[in-house]
Order: sequence, then structure tokens, then C-alpha cells
Amino acid sequence: MISVPRIIGHRGSPRAAPENTLASFRQAAADGAKWVEFDAALTLDSRVVIFHDDALDRTSDGAGLLAEAPFESVAALDAGSWFDPAFKGEMVPTLEEALELFATLGLGFNMELKTDHGREVELATIALPIAVAIWSDNAPTPLISSFSRQAVAAAKDIAPQWPRGLIFDRLPSDWAELGKSLGLATLNANHKHLTREQVMEVRGAGYAVLAYTVNEPARAETLFGWGVDAIFTDIPGEMLKAVDKL
Ligand code: G3P
Ligand code: MG
Repeated sequence: MISVPRIIGHRGSPRAAPENTLASFRQAAADGAKWVEFDAALTLDSRVVIFHDDALDRTSDGAGLLAEAPFESVAALDAGSWFDPAFKGEMVPTLEEALELFATLGLGFNMELKTDHGREVELATIALPIAVAIWSDNAPTPLISSFSRQAVAAAKDIAPQWPRGLIFDRLPSDWAELGKSLGLATLNANHKHLTREQVMEVRGAGYAVLAYTVNEPARAETLFGWGVDAIFTDIPGEMLKAVDKL
């Protein structure tokens, strides 16, 4: 079974710094996280940037859809001030910038392919070769994940050497078939709907279970007690301290 650290910074350390920015990833490393999760998405002109929402409005000073914005305009956005004026000037990172920072910090990563409808294969086809070219074989092997089966299938074709996870809100009844056909290493599920029986069954079938987004140490303890392999959390520092005591 794949080896992942138990605590993964979700979009970095997004309670302490603006999510999915270099500042957030630096903070996660300072918090002691060994891995971060981030969302990779396409601009209008097919550049891969690190951004969660479809729309620019919540986490930048832009407006409208990322998928309708050319990279030049995305690169000019302030992705920090919305969070706190102290982060003014923080930018929307490119995939290259994020991975170069992770290499410098010794961080491992889970790249979530955040797809627009109809661009699932395009995103995987552009993002994976960039990541493979930058990432050293000596660095921790990353995990590639998506809610999109098409994106995960494309990742399997393009970078078969990197483990894959499929993300669910609720685990579907055909998870075992999906696991086999997509060659999954992990099933990533919303912890709110996850049951102990599911965790035992999925792990028994040889897949790691990763749960998102867990921000209560007591809940983390319960999930780890069920056998959950790792959690995505907005508070990696606090969670690491709490889990150390378990
Ligand atoms: O990959 C786990 C989690 O990040 C999936 O949900 O919406 O936070 O990207 P979201
Ligand atoms: Mg995500």
C-alpha cells in the first residue's frame, strides 16, 4: 500500500495564510507538514495555475471565471489581500513555481486536478508532463488525484509511474471496479460520509483511505482509529501536535 504522511496540509496551511499560495505552502512546511495538497486548474489559454474555485472572486481581487481568464490577467492578480492585508502581493502560483518551492522546502505533494467540464483530459495532458519534468525521482513520490474519472484515467496513461487517487463525496457502490480500472492507490473521501465499515473494506482491498477535510483533532483520532491512512486538514500544525499525542 502507498505510504503517505498522516497529516496533509489542505491547500497549504489556509487558516494561517491565503490558500493555494506560495505563502500557504511555506507556512505548511513551517507548521511541520511533510505533504501539501493543492488544486491545479487551467486558465483560458491552458496554463496550469494553483487555484481552487471556478471563479476568481473569493480568493483574489479578480472577478469572473478562471477558465475564461488569460494567464496574463491571472498572473497580475493579488491572491493575498482578501485573506489579510499582510499578504498583499501574494500571487496565484503557476504549477512550476509551486513545485520548485516544494523541492526547495522538501515538501511532498498531492496534486488535485481541478477540471472544468470538457477539459479533463487537457488538464492532465498539460499538468503531468510539467510535474514529471520538474520533480526529481529522489524526491517523495507524489499522489495525483481528481474528482474526475477522465482526468485520473488520463493521468494513468501519461504518468503511470505516479500513484493515483479518486476523490469522492460519498463512496460509490462501484468503488472496487473503479479502483481496478483506474489502477488507484487511494480512495479520497469526504470524512463526513465515511463509515468504519467502508474504511475497513477499502483498506482490506488494498487501497489507502484519505479523508478530507478534517479540522477537529477528536474526529482525526476517530478516523485514524478506523484505519484511515491520512487526513487533509486546514490546520496542519495544530493537527500534528494533537496526533503526536494519540
Ligand atoms: O483533495 C481533497 C480535497 O481538497 C477535495 O475537495 O474542494 O477542497 O478541493 P476540495
Ligand atoms: Mg482540493
